[in-house]
Amino acid sequence: MHRPAASSTSLLRPALAWLPGVVILLLAQLARADASVMPHRSPHETVGTVNCASSTCHGSITPWEGSPVLQNEYTTWSRLDRHTNTFEVLKNATSARIVRNLGYREPATEVKICLDCHAHNPPPTQRGARFVQSEGVGCEGCHGPAGQWVTEHTVKGTTHAQNVARGLYPTDQPLAQAKLCLSCHFGDETRFVTHRIMGAGHPRISFELGTFSALEPAHYRIDADYEQRKGKHDPMRVWALGQALAARQILDTLTDPKRGRDGLMPELVLFDCHACHHPMSDKRWNPRMGVGPGRIRLNDSNLLMLRAIVRAAYPESSAAFDRAVRATHLAVSAGETEGGLEPLQVVSKLSATIGALMPRLEQQAFPPALQRQVLVSLVDEASESSYADYAGAEQAYMAIVNVTNDLLKQQALADTPALKTALGDLLKTLRHDEQYAPAAFKQRLATLRSTLGLQVRS
Ligand code: HEC
Ligand code: HEC
Ligand code: HEC
Ligand code: HEC
Repeated sequence: MHRPAASSTSLLRPALAWLPGVVILLLAQLARADASVMPHRSPHETVGTVNCASSTCHGSITPWEGSPVLQNEYTTWSRLDRHTNTFEVLKNATSARIVRNLGYREPATEVKICLDCHAHNPPPTQRGARFVQSEGVGCEGCHGPAGQWVTEHTVKGTTHAQNVARGLYPTDQPLAQAKLCLSCHFGDETRFVTHRIMGAGHPRISFELGTFSALEPAHYRIDADYEQRKGKHDPMRVWALGQALAARQILDTLTDPKRGRDGLMPELVLFDCHACHHPMSDKRWNPRMGVGPGRIRLNDSNLLMLRAIVRAAYPESSAAFDRAVRATHLAVSAGETEGGLEPLQVVSKLSATIGALMPRLEQQAFPPALQRQVLVSLVDEASESSYADYAGAEQAYMAIVNVTNDLLKQQALADTPALKTALGDLLKTLRHDEQYAPAAFKQRLATLRSTLGLQVRS
């Protein structure tokens, strides 16, 4: 059922036997320079979190003054980070029920598909003597197996680039960071929560990079020193790239013949959960983008966020982007296409459009004026009934809180009790996903708009 993760070196190995030495050297360098090898696909040995935990390494109780990094990362992780709990979760009654429903006889703590996300799960041959899987998602689950860099990275003068070349995952790059978190908080080619797993009782997964990075909580401090070492941190850019990547993941999964289908049905996890999961007595259909009543809609929450970003940052591309999103809805839910394209070709086209947008977003700065534009776009989506589904409203709420927080931090927005109340009231409309009422969300957004003194788009 599960394909083993391919690592770049294992793919190269058969060819090595007959290649001349120089080429081997080049290939080896190439493999090492491939910064994007993700922790769960790394060919290196996992040494174990205990190697990072000494009080003179990352296990200090309080942050060190005068050190570029805080040195208390292990303390923050072990005391506060939810990733220390991911393995424990597999021992609870819900997990037992999920694996039983899926037909496994063994406990969830021994089921590969669960361990792949609820722990760091390297192959047995790549586990060091001090690796302990029950500690959940440890340092190396995110920063990459440290076999080749754990000693070296403490040597004075070693650069970040050298560490990355030895297998440290570049978590500081926004796109790499988004890819990492989403690989568990949505899934990828090697691990994925299907509707079958949800049907067995797995909770719905929602994710937004900015919000979840703050919730984790962060064991690093982004200050002048951090930015000098790692470049300017722009939380809006991280949010935008996270949205673009998540949208592509959904579209690409749909077009993947292996993951996009379940028998005759499409993979239902890619669609709006509440399109199906609500009482029939609740007559809730309202006009919405693309498709008429009685049809299942693609989960477009990330696409809606991207629409808001494009409207604000690239207004010249906005009409074309809107058309592409609309066309995708029509193709997926109704099979209607233009220009003789197959429905899945329309989906691939939108994915490619977003792919082309990503390098632009990686360079995009979001000064306060543009942030306000994004805020206006997010609020305005409501007037087009875009937040007809819970998932979109949930993403919009998280985005609005992120932008307002960042504007407040830069003192580009006044911190008033009315603003707090308006955000609190907006959140109240999202408390119960199965009872979500779009009209109430829209009304609270209107209040927020007047509280912020934003101009209405004519
Ligand atoms: C693609 C990654 C992925 C896979 C595969 C996966 N999970 Fe999860 N699971 C998650 C994430 C992420 C969450 C947290 C959702 C949230 O809170 O946003 C979660 C949450 C849960 C929860 C709820 C935890 C709580 O605190 O209430 C249970 C129980 C659970 N998973 C069990 C399982 C079991 C059992 C399996 C194997 C059949 C499994 N999961 C497979 C990613 C995954
Ligand atoms: C869930 C993923 C995750 C886990 C688990 C994790 N980290 Fe991190 N870590 C990050 C991210 C994201 C950043 C911020 C981006 C960056 O600077 O690399 C970061 C940053 C850091 C930094 C750099 C701080 C700076 O100022 O440059 C250190 C050091 C660090 N982590 C150590 C650890 C240690 C030690 C552990 C285990 C006790 C750990 N991390 C566990 C994701 C994780
Ligand atoms: C190896 C898989 C994996 C990776 C990588 C990962 N997570 Fe998680 N994360 C999980 C699982 C599983 C849970 C659920 C834990 C639970 O319910 O107790 C979780 C829980 C969380 C939670 C708590 C959610 C809640 O509902 O309270 C936050 C916040 C979070 N992750 C943020 C992040 C961020 C940010 C990143 C990337 C820097 C990241 N995660 C990377 C697997 C992962
Ligand atoms: C096309 C309709 C459809 C969509 C979309 C859909 N589901 Fe389902 N779901 C079903 C059906 C049908 C069942 C099976 C009900 C049964 O066995 O009684 C089911 C079962 C479930 C169950 C188990 C419920 C139970 O009674 O045991 C959960 C949990 C679940 N789905 C979650 C989700 C989540 C989360 C999403 C969105 C990511 C989603 N579903 C999307 C149709 C759908």
